[in-house]
Amino acid sequence: MTVSLKGKSLVSLGDLSREEFFQILDTADELKRKHKRSEPFTPFVGKNLALIFQKPSLRTRVSFEAGMTRYGGHGIYLGPTDIQLGARETTADIARTLSRYCDAIMARTFGHDIVLELAKHATVPVVNGLTDLEHPCQILADLMTVREKLGRLEGLKLTFLGDGNNVAHSLLQGCALAGMHMTVAVPRGFEPNADILARAREVGKRHGSRLEVSHDIGKALKGADVLYTDVWASMGQEAEKERKAKAMRPLQLNAQALAKANRDAIVLHCLPAHRGEEITDEVIEGPQSVVFDEAENRLHAQMAVLVMVIR
Ligand code: CP
Ligand code: NVA
Repeated sequence: MTVSLKGKSLVSLGDLSREEFFQILDTADELKRKHKRSEPFTPFVGKNLALIFQKPSLRTRVSFEAGMTRYGGHGIYLGPTDIQLGARETTADIARTLSRYCDAIMARTFGHDIVLELAKHATVPVVNGLTDLEHPCQILADLMTVREKLGRLEGLKLTFLGDGNNVAHSLLQGCALAGMHMTVAVPRGFEPNADILARAREVGKRHGSRLEVSHDIGKALKGADVLYTDVWASMGQEAEKERKAKAMRPLQLNAQALAKANRDAIVLHCLPAHRGEEITDEVIEGPQSVVFDEAENRLHAQMAVLVMVIR
């Protein structure tokens, strides 16, 4: 079935149907093939993407900007001091103004409500480039990478080690759509958002996906095909750094943890990585790590989203 996402925003993977989700991944694969063959592809000539950032970024900024240029269009970076979301004018006014100049808006914000507000008032698609709650573009690239490396998604087990954060939330939603099993191994008190987990479980049930939260790292790692970790303190949580590090140290993705997973398990990390904290140098540089293919796939997955949503 072919589905159309033209004109739609991507705020949450929880808003996608399974068909839409797989269509994005299939489009991303096709765009990557075109790119590897150096086929010219310029659907965005004359098109502009506004890039709103309340937080720092390497991958998100560069993959969106470079992607727009490569596809014949242009990305306009709007950093924290440029538009001062919510301080200089209302989010609704920003959304309506940018819609008059640009063909889509990408936003990385603290509050998830800000991206929802932008999407509500913009007349062009809004793409979530990370909020405190979710990081959908990352997970599209992650699951594209898993499928590329392991040949399928359905029935695989992904184990996430660390904080029940934005990346964990979007992974739960993505695994649910893909029919993958996922275990989030977290210290007590750092579990993922209960509503997101409950909704993802509902979706997952329809697709044969089992989503679990565990405080037992050994059990969580057993049978894992994909291991995933992320920074312990996310952007904006700097004050909690020490407390989180103390609680999460037993969940470090190191050689001992890796040995407990399936022998051919692959290792993902959204990056930036704090080596020696959530992951060791040995593991991230080891043969099972696919983190830079994963980073590359941000470009292809996001361009797939833009190709599908921009009118
Ligand atoms: N993974 C990711 O979103 O990276 P940046 O924060 O560098 O954009
Ligand atoms: N959880 C991390 C992801 C960074 C890409 C953060 O929000 O900082």
